[in-house]
Parts: sequence; structure tokens; C-alpha cells
Amino acid sequence: MGDIHTVGIVGSGIMGSGLAEVVARSGFSVVVRSRSKSGAEAVVAGVRANLERQVAKGKIEADERDAVLARIKATDHLGRLADCELVIESVVEDLAVKKELFRELEQIVKPDGILATNTSTLPVIELAMATDRPDRVLGIHFFNPAPMMKLVEVVRPITASDDTVKQALAFATACGKDAVEVVDRAGFVVNALLFPYLNNAVRMFEQGTATKEDIDTAMQGGCNFPMGPFALLDLVGLDTSLSILDALYAEFRDPNYAAMPTLRRMVAAGQLGRKTKRGFYAY
Ligand SMILES: NC(=O)c1ccc[n+]([C@@H]2O[C@H](COP(=O)([O-])OP(=O)(O)OC[C@H]3O[C@@H](n4cnc5c(N)ncnc54)[C@H](O)[C@@H]3O)[C@@H](O)[C@H]2O)c1
Repeated sequence: MGDIHTVGIVGSGIMGSGLAEVVARSGFSVVVRSRSKSGAEAVVAGVRANLERQVAKGKIEADERDAVLARIKATDHLGRLADCELVIESVVEDLAVKKELFRELEQIVKPDGILATNTSTLPVIELAMATDRPDRVLGIHFFNPAPMMKLVEVVRPITASDDTVKQALAFATACGKDAVEVVDRAGFVVNALLFPYLNNAVRMFEQGTATKEDIDTAMQGGCNFPMGPFALLDLVGLDTSLSILDALYAEFRDPNYAAMPTLRRMVAAGQLGRKTKRGFYAY
């Protein structure tokens, strides 16, 4: 695709792994950076396992699996991202951590490289202003699981240039996604609408209106949703969900965004959903 050949991905969690798979499968070279070499290598192992499953099901050829894996490099050195035309940051949803990372990326990545964040809610403008190239910073927000979900929100802070936004939209399209452009407001389109619903499901559970299982069954069967709100919270991660609600509340002061106590207590207890094998459900 045009100007973008090599894409850096920072973070090896749920989204970093999914992004590595999507981007490499779309023909780009990928450098995955995690704080530990083992974290970065675990991403490659995860992509390999997914591709093996696809080969076993006859969905892709073994040659394609090998070609995709050959395009992914794992590293614990941020310096390996120097030659990337695009870096997508997907570390923990914490503004201070992300700002520090953008300051470091500014020093490392070539001057015309685009620095993108996969944040779900945080103000992209603050990350842009942590660099000397705010015109080359924006949000490229993939959804979970990234290989399956069709949507990408391209988030435009007021500093981003038209060319940066154009390249990000073209990149998302090259990844086989439907891209929408949205201004830099907490939650963008999807999470600003989704999270009051998820939070109110927890409120309903707290009030004893129905069990969590029955609320999930009701929303699946009554709205034709693929999963209910508690299964979705567990998939997203309760810590990430809490950070999203806190960021939405900080921006809009709407009580629907004020995280319910159950959510906060479960995060304090380390019950974060699928990734810790325990959340609203056990895995
Ligand atoms: N989970 C979702 O459904 C989802 C969907 C879309 C976007 N996102 C966004 O993607 C980003 C990552 O979310 P995730 O679900 O992959 O989280 P995760 O908890 O699975 O992974 C977080 C990653 O951040 C790293 N990390 C933690 N603290 C760090 C630090 N101080 N410095 C550098 N790295 C650190 C961890 O090692 C891990 O690799 C967040 O911004 C989140 O809002 C999440």
C-alpha cells in the first residue's frame, strides 16, 4: 500500500496480538515490540496457533501461513521501530503510560512516520502534543477480536493533517476493514454508545432485576446480539472497561458513564475477565 510498508505494533496484550495478525495478513511487514522478548514472542506464537487452526480447517494454505509468519518480527527494543512508516501503540489504557511512550517514539521513529494509538477513549490530542509532529499523530482504533471485527475508527485530533488521515483510512481499507472517520471525543462513536449500555447492565445486576446469565440471554435473544453484556465485558477486559468508563465520565460527566461499584471491586480483586480466566464468568 502506497507509502506504508512496515508497521510497528507496541504492546503484546489482546489487541497487540490481534493487530499483528491482521496487519501481517494484509501483506505489511510487522515489528511487534513488547517490554519483554518473551511477550513479543508470545504474540508470534499466538498468531502461529491461529494460522494453524485456519490451515487445519482448509481456510488458508500452509504457504500463506509461512508467508504471514515470515513478515512478523518480535523485539523488546523500541529502537527496532525506527524505519516504520506507521507505528500503532496498543499498550495499557493509561494516559501517562501512553504519553511517555509517544515521547519515546518521537525520538526513534523516522520524522515522517505516522504515530497512531489504538486507545478506546483517551484524548488523542494529548498524545499528539507529547510529540514534535502532532500533524502525524492520530487514532487508529481496531475492535476486539481484531482479525474478525470489520470496523476501524480513524480518530482525528484537531492537529492531524489531511494527508495523515487519508493514509490511515487507506491503511484500514488495505487491512480489509470498514473505516469511519470520527473526531477526537472520548469513546469516539462505538464506545460512547456501547459503554452506557454495558454499565447499565451491571447496574441492573446490582439492583437484582435478573441474574447476569438471564440478562445475557435476554440481550442475545431479544436484540439478536451475538453475546450479552457480561460476556462482552469479560471479553473486553474489566480493567480496560473501567478505564473506558472513567475516561468517558471525565469528559462528559454523564451519570450513565459513572462506573458501577461491582466493576471497580472486581478490577481491584484482579478478576479482569477472560484474560485472568475469571470475571463475571469463569473460563
Ligand atoms: N480489549 C479491547 O476490547 C480493546 C478494543 C479496542 C482497543 N483497545 C485498546 O487497546 C489498548 C490495549 O488494550 P488490551 O485489551 O490489548 O490490553 P491488555 O491488558 O491485554 O494488554 C496491555 C499491554 O500493555 C502492556 N503494558 C502494561 N503496562 C505497560 C507500561 N507501563 N508500559 C508499556 N506497556 C505496558 C502489557 O504488557 C500488555 O502488552 C488499550 O488502549 C485499549 O483501550 C482494547
